[in-house]
Amino acid sequence: MLEARATVQRLHAYRPPLAGRQGLRLDFNESTIGCSPRVLARLRTLDAEALARYPEREPVEREVADFLGLNAAQVLLTNGVDEAIHLLCSTYLEPGDEALIVVPTFAMFAIFAGAEGARVVQILSSENFAFPLEDLLSRTSQRTRFIAVANPNNPTGAAVSCEVLLKVTQAAPHAAVLVDEAYFEFHGETILNYPTERPANLFVARTFSKAYGMAGLRIGILAGDAGQMAMVRRVASPYNVNAIALAVLPEALRDQEYVEHYVAEVQRARGALEQELRTLGLHYWPSRANFVLVRVGPAHTKFVQDLRARGILVRDRNSDPGCKGCVRLTVGSEEHTRTLIGALREVVEKLREPGEVRA
Ligand SMILES: Cc1ncc(COP(=O)(O)O)c(C=O)c1O
Repeated sequence: MLEARATVQRLHAYRPPLAGRQGLRLDFNESTIGCSPRVLARLRTLDAEALARYPEREPVEREVADFLGLNAAQVLLTNGVDEAIHLLCSTYLEPGDEALIVVPTFAMFAIFAGAEGARVVQILSSENFAFPLEDLLSRTSQRTRFIAVANPNNPTGAAVSCEVLLKVTQAAPHAAVLVDEAYFEFHGETILNYPTERPANLFVARTFSKAYGMAGLRIGILAGDAGQMAMVRRVASPYNVNAIALAVLPEALRDQEYVEHYVAEVQRARGALEQELRTLGLHYWPSRANFVLVRVGPAHTKFVQDLRARGILVRDRNSDPGCKGCVRLTVGSEEHTRTLIGALREVVEKLREPGEVRA
């Protein structure tokens, strides 16, 4: 009988609850208003010939590199950040190597590192999800070949300074250190602009899935040292990014006004949501991204179900390390956030009725 590698058999299946996502989708940190109309207009110009050709990544890669102030050799377009993580793990991890991951965090770091046969070492965040620098540094060794940090982090919304991240790169020169900036636009700080020379073991990932509203197109960026990126490129398919994504990406980059407008709206909406959570007496962690992690308590399952019954999808994070009783709420447009707030008031009030599970 054909058997998958033992390493793969040991992996936990990651099943994001994607089926039947009807309603207001505040469960995957997507944009709630979608991409720029200019992107859609460009999409509508594509013809059969454009689809018949294999996609050409390099010209668009050059535009993205210019946009980031980097050279083309330092930039690889990927099939979302997911693929960027996968490629880094394939490039740097041998079976038995160690991958250090600060948790709770994005699930794909551990999955792709584990799939290479690496030993995944999870380091729990400090109190209030602060970055556990001392713990992380004390766990690095010659065997450490991959370290992944989402900044801001998902699902906590916590951010860590560039100085701290650079200490990590220095402490682990044999490790590929990935700073996943999937939520960069909402945070505004990037290690790519840090004024010191970038270490050769530092990689930065960005995505068009969040602030740009293009999750369905699957497009992301991996940036790093040109020599290291040449190694990563060896592992990547030359056609990893599809022709539609490549055709519209320059238009998405040119319409920065649209992205800035949405980001500003999300930041206002996040403030309003946090204010409401305080009024409702629910503990939350201040967020630098387009979501807020809230501690609901033992009623977390019912809370999620009751919101779903009102047409709003949110994500139960109870089983993430350190997140007992927590739920993550994506922040969308102000209108969508007003809808969420209205439903939250009803759901929390209902949970507090005598006989109900306490929030
Ligand atoms: C930290 C982080 N990285 C990466 C991703 C996925 O990005 P992409 O859609 O570009 O694969 C997510 C999505 O939730 C995320 O939270």
